[in-house]
Amino acid sequence: MFNFTRQDFPDDFLFGTATSSYQIEGHAFGGAGKTHWDTFAATPGNVVRAENGDRACDHYHRYEEDLDLVAAAGLDAYRFSTSWARVLPEGRGTPNAEGLDFYDRLTDAMLERGLKPCATLYHWELPVPMADLGGWRNPDIAKWFGDFAHVIMSRIGDRMYSVAPINEPWCVGWLSHFLGHHAPGLRDIRATAHAMHHVLLAHGTAIQTMRGLGMTNLGGVFNLEWATPADDSLAARQAADLYDGYYNHFFLSGVFKGTYPETVMEGLGPHMPKGWQDDFDVIQSPLDWCGINYYTRKIIAPNDDPWPSHEEVEGPLPKTFMDWEIYPDGLYQFLTRTAQDYTGDLPIYVTENGMAAPDVLENGQVADSHRIDYLNQHVAAAQRAMADGVPLKGYFIWSLLDNYEWALGYEKRFGLVHVDFDTLDRTPKSSYHALKTALARS
Ligand code: NOJ
Repeated sequence: MFNFTRQDFPDDFLFGTATSSYQIEGHAFGGAGKTHWDTFAATPGNVVRAENGDRACDHYHRYEEDLDLVAAAGLDAYRFSTSWARVLPEGRGTPNAEGLDFYDRLTDAMLERGLKPCATLYHWELPVPMADLGGWRNPDIAKWFGDFAHVIMSRIGDRMYSVAPINEPWCVGWLSHFLGHHAPGLRDIRATAHAMHHVLLAHGTAIQTMRGLGMTNLGGVFNLEWATPADDSLAARQAADLYDGYYNHFFLSGVFKGTYPETVMEGLGPHMPKGWQDDFDVIQSPLDWCGINYYTRKIIAPNDDPWPSHEEVEGPLPKTFMDWEIYPDGLYQFLTRTAQDYTGDLPIYVTENGMAAPDVLENGQVADSHRIDYLNQHVAAAQRAMADGVPLKGYFIWSLLDNYEWALGYEKRFGLVHVDFDTLDRTPKSSYHALKTALARS
């Protein structure tokens, strides 16, 4: 059972669930162009069992059934993403009519069910022709992305409740270009510096494009991860601060303050793209809300490697199937710190929170009390932040369905709804049923 009900929250508080295009739609369908995730997954060693998003959950054909599940749970909002390569198979130029039609139908299907459509324009599947031109390393990507924003939002923008240009800029920048865990799988500090800056430039460009279309309720979605020093030493505290700097502050500070943290620039500064200091007018384009995706923390210890000269060490707390420590206090701290240091009165949303587990279907049921516990703890942390005055306006659970967990393939199950990846049958888990009870209107 959940420890909260809808009645514990303000009347206009939004409960939602989140997904993304490549993770659920089935990218082989409907004339979508190839993306850098297709080529990344086709390269040995990058993705568990070389799994890709070709079929995924086949949401492309089953979206009505999936949206029925969202509505039947009593949720208010649905956070989805629009695949750039589905809309523009070449990344630019002629749109794929089938792709635009799909997002048009999807939008209407949400509205028919009384769900608020909350779009993200980019959730990581870069069209291959854009990747061939350097992808996020190329400064022109901001313009290409702005043009994509124009094409897709000219079609569905009139019916969106809210829009954010880019999901989790840290993942687009650092995870994909420094750690090499996500497409394009680079491990290069110069590529990282360029990608981290260009992703924010693209964010700001898309915001301006959408403002030009007369759209409102535009925001940004940042993934924040708490950093705990491995011990009390100054070196460990500095290492954790630096991690916090390039993971969290870099993006929030860029967008809300027009600066990058000095500690981060000590490492990235020499590699930044020419003229980066002149881009903050665009990067800082005013937003209407701030989204936080929160899952875990890391324990950080200094080491002798080149900058950033630190490493993650194993923490003592219980972990999810991602091997991520369960640390709800981090959500409380981020909500209060973000409001205090960056966003003031601006509405904040938890745009993602949830956990992976090796959930199994037995006798037609999936018992996932671990997920209920995880969400209970994190929702309680959010309620504490609200009690302290944080203007939190909604909470989205990741995810509606078990889906393609990127480099980890299909075995990390995050859904409120179980998916059998052979038959594609959907089975609501016990967390789904408990949520429905918690969200019932009395
Ligand atoms: C963040 C990402 O937005 C999403 O794509 C991913 O599946 C979840 N976190 C879980 O790792």
